[in-house]
This record gives sequence, structure tokens and C-alpha cells, in this order.
Amino acid sequence: MGGSWLADAVLYEVYPQSYADSNGDGIGDLRGVIDHLDHIASLGVDAIWFNPCFASPFVDAGYDVSDYLRIAPRYGTNDDLVELVERAGERGIRVILDLVVGHTSIEHPWFQRELHADGPDPDGDRYIWREDRPTTGWASDIPGTPAWVPSPGPRRGWYLKNFYDEQPALNFGWTSLDPDEPWRDAIDAPGPRRNRAALREIIDFWLSKGVAGFRVDMAFSLVKDYGVHPGVAASVEIWQEIRAWLDDAHPDAVLIPEGTEPRTDGPLAFDADFALVIHEAHGSLFDNRGAGVLPFHPPHEPFFEESGRGSTRFFLDAWAADREVDPQRPVLMATADHDYTRLRSGTRTVEQLGAALTFLMTWGNVPCLYYGDEIGMRYLPGMPDVEGAICNPDYNRAGCRTPMQWDASPNAGFSTADAADLYLPIDPDPDRPTVAAQRDDPGSTLTLVRELIALRRATPALQGRASIRVVHEDYPFAWVRGESHLVVVNPRRQVARVAVPEAQRAEPIWGSGVRVTDGALVVEGFGYGVLTLDAGA
Ligand code: BGC
Repeated sequence: MGGSWLADAVLYEVYPQSYADSNGDGIGDLRGVIDHLDHIASLGVDAIWFNPCFASPFVDAGYDVSDYLRIAPRYGTNDDLVELVERAGERGIRVILDLVVGHTSIEHPWFQRELHADGPDPDGDRYIWREDRPTTGWASDIPGTPAWVPSPGPRRGWYLKNFYDEQPALNFGWTSLDPDEPWRDAIDAPGPRRNRAALREIIDFWLSKGVAGFRVDMAFSLVKDYGVHPGVAASVEIWQEIRAWLDDAHPDAVLIPEGTEPRTDGPLAFDADFALVIHEAHGSLFDNRGAGVLPFHPPHEPFFEESGRGSTRFFLDAWAADREVDPQRPVLMATADHDYTRLRSGTRTVEQLGAALTFLMTWGNVPCLYYGDEIGMRYLPGMPDVEGAICNPDYNRAGCRTPMQWDASPNAGFSTADAADLYLPIDPDPDRPTVAAQRDDPGSTLTLVRELIALRRATPALQGRASIRVVHEDYPFAWVRGESHLVVVNPRRQVARVAVPEAQRAEPIWGSGVRVTDGALVVEGFGYGVLTLDAGA
């Protein structure tokens, strides 16, 4: 398996379009990130995960790759990436890239070649084409669901897409073959084999440049017999094969799937699971229905909500399931991401962030801090549809992709371009949070995040491997880490009190609004804290 560092790490997700624009074209770039590495280092994070930064027509924000081996010119060059990896490395920070392996862009030369092929191609079958009109199955239009798309070029027929029409699915073969569906290739047919070989080449290319690993987009979409156990197992097998090769060729490399790795009979191929923010477990804690963008809404109020009507039970069950195979398995949980609202959205205000961030940094997960969440940037409703951000009228991802707010200069210090030329508009609020305004403010969200991560770094019991024991699952939510620390959060407005035996021997060391009175934990509305437990008491 890959680097053991991941289990105790804190990640920082950078959406490259919106982080820092060094050349004034209105779009972020790698040089901009290099210029801000000191800020990233000051957070105390261990690795940066970049959304795709490869050549792309950007129909889906770069999740439509046209050249896997080239940094998109708008972000810089491959050499810039190498420099970024080195400069980050000097600060003890690793770099993780986003690997989009289930589909390419229609502009990828592989696709263009098949589109214009006028006969069998010895290098073809990388995509899934059919000549007969699709009648049943996969006629859906929902992004993220495979569907047949009419050929946009000389080639006759339809191709299978993965997400948007411009994202044709790569052919990794099928476990179930059917004479009536001759477009199904076996997993070991030449096309799927070519794609598997290409996957290795791409991984090897970037790891050889010093990258630490990959977050793998739609990792289990490779073999498409969805819902059929052998199909999922076959995708997993592809990753097991990659893992076996990595263990030899790049033993420290980490692979992080998008979502939870399916449990099959074989060994796990990925180094972690990702409790995705768009999924139920996260939604049951942080559903921002006020912002109206989540495809899934839990049947009750989220737990981190001021009314205090939520429950942690759904999350706790999902967490237990993720950790069943290995109690120390790293599980990533993010503050937000490029597909979802931010923590500060809907009705969740700045004063409510402390409880949420304390939970996310000390629960025992591998926290992933989404850029801008360290200063409490808002999810901005009503943003324009840029680069495929709007999947459907109820699902606008642009609001969490707006430019980073650095300081009080024009465009919040993100770019010197005209405001009209920015990738997305800056938060128009005159009181919008910025790094500069929060840097030296002891009461700021930035200070809180830095303190929390520093406390986590200094305290193995608060990191990924130490045990977790829930002592109260309602308000206030309280849990013991490593039998030496008690963490408590109260995400509701009303004060919360609980008498637990641990309170008798607990001493607050960090936080706000937490006290121990008469053997009970008393937590003010929106309070949060970390306490040490006296082993001898
Ligand atoms: C990414 C989305 C993207 C989709 C299609 C997801 O994993 O997070 O942003 O639109 O894959 O590539």
C-alpha cells in the first residue's frame, strides 16, 4: 500500500481556476499557487490536492481531459508543476493530482481518431461505439449517468458517454458479453488492454515528476456492468492490478478513490475511502438545503444546524461501515469541495463554523480543507454557468468555485484582470472575508483553523489512527480520542449539557464556550472544545 503518511494527514483542495492568477488573464494558474505556498504551509496541511490541471477544452472544468501528459497552457507548463512540487516539498507539503480515467474529452486525439476512422483501426476500440440505434438502457440525460450520444462526426452510430456528452467513456470492457450487443468487448480485448496500459503510463509519468499520488475521479466507473457485482469487482481488479504494479514501481504513491471503495473478495486497492460531500453520510451532518444544490437530502434536519433537530446516527453507521475492514483505514472527509456548497452556506453563519471545523479536524478522519474554507468563504447562490458548473437547475456548483479572497485590493487580490474577465465573480459583499484581514486576528476563522490543525499535528490522539469512542451522540456531540482527549461540539444555538463519566476528569485545553460544571459538560450554543482526560482520576 502507499504512503502511511496519509492516515494522519490534512489535505487542502485547490481548484486551480480560482486560487491565484499570476498573469492577469482572470484565471488561476500554477505560478499563482507557488506564490501562495507560504499561506498553504501556514495552515499546517500535509498535501495539496489539485482538481484536474491537464490540457482540456474545459467543458466540465477540466474533468474532460484532452492530453493527460500536459499541464493546461492556461495554468502553465509541466516544468511549473515540477517546480511547484519541489517548492511545496521544501515546506513538507506533497502534491496530489486528479486522475480522470473513466472518460476523456471529445477533443482527445484518441477520440478524434476513432471519430474519423473509416475502417478498423489497430489502435482503436478505446471507446464504446455502437451502430444500431439504442432503444433500451442508458437513454438517460442525467449527468453522471452513462448514456448513448449520437456521433458528432463522420463515424456512424453512437458512443457511450460518462458525464456530459463531451466526455466519452473509455472502454475498459464488460464482464457480461451478449451476442445482441456486439459492442461489448471482453475485459481482455485489445481496446481495454490499451486503455489499461495508458492508465499506467499516465500514472508513471506524473509520479516520476515527484507527485505523491492521485485522487481518482469516478474510480469505479471503468467496467460498466453497473449494479452487477462482477462489474464492480472487475473495476476493482483493474485497480488491484495497478496497485500491485505501484507497490513495486512507486511504493509511496497514494491512490484515493472518489467515494468509498467497494468491498469485494479481493484485497483493497486504494489507500483510503472518501466520504463524499455529496453523499448521504456527509449530508446528514451538513446538508445545506438552504443553498438548494444537493442531489441527496436526508430525511431529517442535518446535525450541524442551529435548530438542533438533527442526528449523528446515520453518519455514525456509515463511518462504522467504512472502517469495518480496517479500523485504521483512512477515511477522507472534506469541509466542502468543487461539487458542493461550502460549510458557510444556506443558514450556516460564521459563528457556526467553529463546531463544524472542530469536528472535521479531530474526528479521526483525514480532513480535506477546501480552499477558502479556512477563511469562511461563502457559497454564492446564482452564479453563472461556467465550465459545466450547472448540472441541472437545482444543482449549481459555481457558487463554491468563486475566486479565493486574499486581501482588500481589487478582485480581492485574486487577479489584476478586469472584474468582467474573471473566471467567476468575486463575492460582492464588502465585508467578505480575506486572508489579509484574518491573518493576525485572534478571533478569525483562519486563526481557528490554524490552531486546530496545529493542535492536531501536536497530538497523535487527535489524528487519524487513534481510537474513537462516542460518549454522547446527541447535542452536545462528544467523543473520546485515543482515551486521552475528549472533543465536544454543540452545533445548535441553544446551550447543551450532558453528564458523562469522562467529564469528571476532563480539563478544557482549547475551544470556545465549553466548561465542566458539577461533573457535566456544558457547551454554549455553537461552542466547541478539546479537553484532556486525566488518566489517574
Ligand atoms: C467530479 C466532478 C465531475 C465528474 C465528471 C466527479 O468526480 O468531482 O466535478 O464533473 O466527476 O468527471
